[in-house]
Amino acid sequence: MTEKTNELLFQRAKQLIPGGVNSPVRAFGSVGGTPYFVEHAEGPFVYDVEANRYIDYVQSYGPSILGHAHPAIIAAITEAATHGTSYGAPTENEVLIAAEMVSRVEGMEMMRLVSSGTEAVMSAIRLARGATGRNKIVKFAGNYHGHSDALLVAGGSGVAQQGLIGSEGVTPGAVADTIVAPYNVVPALDESVAVVVVEPVAANMGLVAPAPGFLEGLRAECDRVGALLLFDEVITGFRLCHGGAAEWFGVTPDMWCFGKVIGGGLPMGAFGATEDIMANLAPLGGVYQAGTLSGNPLATAAGLAVMSMLDRAAYEQLTGIATSLQEGMTTAFADAGVAAVMPRVGPLLGLFFTDATPTNFDEAKAAADNGVYKRFFHGMLDRGVAFAPGAYEAIFVSLAHGDTEIDATVDACREVAAEL
Ligand SMILES: Cc1ncc(COP(=O)(O)O)c(C=O)c1O
Repeated sequence: MTEKTNELLFQRAKQLIPGGVNSPVRAFGSVGGTPYFVEHAEGPFVYDVEANRYIDYVQSYGPSILGHAHPAIIAAITEAATHGTSYGAPTENEVLIAAEMVSRVEGMEMMRLVSSGTEAVMSAIRLARGATGRNKIVKFAGNYHGHSDALLVAGGSGVAQQGLIGSEGVTPGAVADTIVAPYNVVPALDESVAVVVVEPVAANMGLVAPAPGFLEGLRAECDRVGALLLFDEVITGFRLCHGGAAEWFGVTPDMWCFGKVIGGGLPMGAFGATEDIMANLAPLGGVYQAGTLSGNPLATAAGLAVMSMLDRAAYEQLTGIATSLQEGMTTAFADAGVAAVMPRVGPLLGLFFTDATPTNFDEAKAAADNGVYKRFFHGMLDRGVAFAPGAYEAIFVSLAHGDTEIDATVDACREVAAEL
């Protein structure tokens, strides 16, 4: 039998799966080269099929907050699986996870589970339109809200990496009611706007923090015209802090979307709001939304296990890990004379090869597309450290990243910086 290598698997994958991957950023398109095919992962590490070990800062793009294959998550999933894998009927764990999330997020009274972040935002937008009887939605350039048609305009993450301003196959009608505004500028709204959707910390154009007053300004402008404010917390939710972005910034939206962390690595998303708004959802109201696998028992078991470990001390620890990485890498770049900034909001970290910290998509794009990230990425990968294969992604640390991994990352960064 032929030896299993990344290259052979990628060749075979490309014959069977478009681009060889099931999500575009994984294809290494913007950095070049062959993706590593993961064989297994543990704590801060992923191991590929050639037995290479990488310190992992992708962490599944956010879900693996405890590190990979955490024993408590594995035990919860294993135990749940012995009872069955999907029922099409409600379970106690759905009630428990809703209670946990609602208790953490001040202002969110009810929520519903779905199977991805895309589904959460798509459903929340429909609900906002149904609840307000209005059509227009406002989103911000460089924010990514999943791949539902209405939101595939000026998207961050893989959309930006591919250099797309939208997507073929999306009809003009599907985006006719989507207004795109620059991040960090409060747009003037009118009474046609149903909802303003925003990443409270933009984490799909690298990491761009909200400018002081931006989220407060959105809250006030939405209130002025009776529009709803939706925080897309698919990345920030239960990663930034115990209660999410509303707690961190002291601005309470009308609606929330979650994903990633809440599923403990299994497919799960959620959207929530006040009881008044959620009452518009079927079976109570006329806004339809459903899912065969929504509230899946394996995903809720994993989600409950992960949430039970995310107390306030865990967030302090996570922020400490991100801060050590930020300080070490920033010093390494400075010592080598490499222009680099590493914006950080709590445990959320970014990296741009530029002098000035980007505040919007245009600035982020200029930094992301200057060609330096690609060389950094491969230099680090060659030294056993995996950052995301694209300059538009955030850096994800986990609670499993210890001093040894941070020091090894900074040492590798020092060597790579010298070559940049
Ligand atoms: C802020 C944000 N919203 C929505 C999504 C879509 O989530 P999913 O990929 O689970 O569909 C993502 C995914 O990266 C995201 O970062």
